[in-house]
Amino acid sequence: MASLAIYPGSFDPPTYGHADVIARASRLFDRVIVAVLVNPGKRPWFTVEERAAMITEACGGSRIEVVTFDGLVAELAQRHGASTIIRGLRGASEFDYERQMALMNRHLNNDVDTIFLMPAMEFGHISSTLVKEVVSLGGAVTGLVPPKIEARLQQRREGGSGIRQV
Ligand code: PNS
Repeated sequence: MASLAIYPGSFDPPTYGHADVIARASRLFDRVIVAVLVNPGKRPWFTVEERAAMITEACGGSRIEVVTFDGLVAELAQRHGASTIIRGLRGASEFDYERQMALMNRHLNNDVDTIFLMPAMEFGHISSTLVKEVVSLGGAVTGLVPPKIEARLQQRREGGSGIRQV
């Protein structure tokens, strides 16, 4: 039976760190579903549809499926019959939050386990939040996100009111 993993996140925007995790996951699993979800704790710059389109363009592949979902990751995993959730882990400071999410997801769906993948060292400092902060303050994010995503970020910044919130 083909192995399947779900890689959920807010991807606002997708970065080279996300792309690296997707590439690593696709070497471990036959199929990877990248799921763009709402993080209630964050105010996004892009709609889930825009984020999904950016991921498809930057990291699409025959074994990568990009979906949007407005609900619980645990429920999405059940719907697809997936028993593995992938999350990227850049460092120890993220571990407590990730541990809680992994255990909550297992509480909600006992069939599901979370596997943490470390992005390459050169991507260890990249986060979507910092990318937006740099862009909103007029900095360049070349080398942190693909060029087309950088262009979209700059456009969004120039779009003005209300979207400079990180
Ligand atoms: O990229 P992020 O913002 O760290 O991803 C967080 C995300 C979207 C995976 C998390 O907020 C999430 O799982 N949201 C969906 C709702 C849900 O399942 N919440 C319970 C998770 S414990």
